[in-house]
Amino acid sequence: MLRRASRLVGTFRVPGDKSISHRAAMLAAFASGVTRIEGYALNGDCLSTLGCIAALGAAVERDETTVTIASGGRDSLVAPAGPLDAGNSGTTMRLLAGLLAGCDLDVSIAGDESLSGRPMRRVANPLTSMGAVVETTGGHAPIHVRGKARLNAISYQPDPPSAQVKSAILLAGLSAEGVTRVRERVPTRDHTERLLSAFGVECGREDDVAWVRGPATLVPADVTVPGDVSSAAFLMALALLVEGSDVSITGIGLNPTRTRLFDVLAELGADIELTDFVDAAEPFGDVRVRYTERLGPLGGGPFVVGADIVAEMIDEVPILAALATRTTGGIRFEGVGELRRKESDRVAAMEEGLSLLGATVRSSDETLEIDGGRLLLGARVRSFGDHRIAMALGCLGVAIEGETTIEDAGAAGVSFPDFFDVLPEGAVVWSAHAGSER
Ligand code: S3P
Repeated sequence: MLRRASRLVGTFRVPGDKSISHRAAMLAAFASGVTRIEGYALNGDCLSTLGCIAALGAAVERDETTVTIASGGRDSLVAPAGPLDAGNSGTTMRLLAGLLAGCDLDVSIAGDESLSGRPMRRVANPLTSMGAVVETTGGHAPIHVRGKARLNAISYQPDPPSAQVKSAILLAGLSAEGVTRVRERVPTRDHTERLLSAFGVECGREDDVAWVRGPATLVPADVTVPGDVSSAAFLMALALLVEGSDVSITGIGLNPTRTRLFDVLAELGADIELTDFVDAAEPFGDVRVRYTERLGPLGGGPFVVGADIVAEMIDEVPILAALATRTTGGIRFEGVGELRRKESDRVAAMEEGLSLLGATVRSSDETLEIDGGRLLLGARVRSFGDHRIAMALGCLGVAIEGETTIEDAGAAGVSFPDFFDVLPEGAVVWSAHAGSER
């Protein structure tokens, strides 16, 4: 159960970036030798990826900060006796499908109930046209991959734009003859491309096309994973929700394909400052956010977040929707259809949660609109087993009057296991009867 906090002040670190961690572990399994990954995200999703590559024959060791992966390379991988378990992680399932498409193996990949409801043809179709056999279960997981050591290079444009689909194709491109190209209408996160270069692969980007040349031999790399900007987003929003807050988060990834939220918050007038920027293979730095009295434009009407911006900050929509409740004119999101196919239907989940807390919310297939300036009051709300919904509603729970209970708050553990522990003292009262209710 959550209660209103007085304020959040301090310097925080967040877990390692989930997207980079998944990719580094998978590429390590394809490289012959030992890869060290510093700052690997030891959360539920990224542990699923480690479990999968270990089942494929890579030797995985970890301590508190570093994961070490020893592999004999692509040809040393073996098919496990049973299906690989991707848990709740769409990135694990879709990217592994791409990697395994280029291995002469027969492998099934399964996931939990949420993952088993998510669309998989979007990776099966392009991988099939590269020459692998990828069968879905009625378009969903479990999926079955019968790979081929040599694939055909293709040119493909994922629709809707998706970093997971782009990455699956580029990873299959490692085993294809020639140049595999992925065109994107809006630039999605480019961690795969950056990491492929670090593992010695010839790849690049020309205008809106990412490409990789195969067949490629990967050399092990030393990878440093910065803090996850999508986890930091919750602490940044908390600073803007709870009066008097002043929050600094250090060492977070500032890859420009991940920071669209910062631009939107700045346009809303939030007091945000970026410092100590380091332009590494994956850029990182510190961010400081101070509570800002007025959020939103002076004129009437909602602040509009258009479809392309939504695509570029797809994981941050739930927390921005929570923040919308305290803007002057509210926020209207357009092109949100993809959000309905994440770990939960995030449009419906946020609409229900915010409405239960007293907000005025309207939605259609492709839009979500939240009115600003409403006084919210604590209530019992549902996370739908979705980490980002649990945390977005959690941020509101510590900002508003009354008591807020979040059903299945433990869902946060797939990306930010300590989230409820970093909230201000007194704001979180643990539920006596269910560890997953906060
Ligand atoms: C991710 C890509 C995004 C994002 C997900 C992680 C990735 O999904 O929502 O949390 O690591 O590539 P889509 O690419 O399917 O939009």
